[in-house]
Amino acid sequence: MGLILKEPVDKEFQEIVEYIHVFDLDNRDLQQKQFIAAFLNNQLVGFARLREHAGFMELCSLGVVTSYRRKGVGKAIVEELIKSSKKNIYLVCIIPDYFNPFGFNIVNEFPISMQHKIDYCTKHLVVPQNYLVMFMDKQFP
Ligand SMILES: CC(C)(COP(=O)(O)OP(=O)(O)OC[C@H]1O[C@@H](n2cnc3c(N)ncnc32)[C@H](O)[C@@H]1OP(=O)(O)O)[C@@H](O)C(=O)NCCC(=O)NCCS
Repeated sequence: MGLILKEPVDKEFQEIVEYIHVFDLDNRDLQQKQFIAAFLNNQLVGFARLREHAGFMELCSLGVVTSYRRKGVGKAIVEELIKSSKKNIYLVCIIPDYFNPFGFNIVNEFPISMQHKIDYCTKHLVVPQNYLVMFMDKQFP
């Protein structure tokens, strides 16, 4: 497919921030260096980030440009972030079936900051589905 994955430069980061608003994704504590961006023919087609928490990473703000969905772009980004994470990973989502094949499992016990994330999502990102917490144990203590 010729997909290129890399950390975004300033201009690309601004484009990502705009998409985050359009897609109604988590826009808190946005930092350029947290992101992996995907490009096809020099065009930004997707992005996601790892947000650092005490003792773990959170995978969040995953978005693929609408016309490029269902082509494996999201999958390539998620796999790259999993590979690059040096800590266990949590995420909050409404699409567990999407994240399960990567090795994330739904958990009922999680750090308080993930409860805060659910509270944020419920309050600011109103969708009919329930938010769930998922976890990937990368075997880090
Ligand atoms: C969710 C999203 C990132 C998926 O990206 P994508 O590039 O279309 O996904 P991929 O093409 O990499 O899909 C990988 C696999 O997941 C499946 N899949 C795609 N979207 C799915 C969904 N919403 N629910 C369940 N499975 C899904 C695909 O069929 C594919 O399966 P396969 O490997 O067996 O073919 C994209 O639809 C998006 O940006 N949505 C809006 C923002 C959003 O919801 N972000 C997630 C916040 S938690």
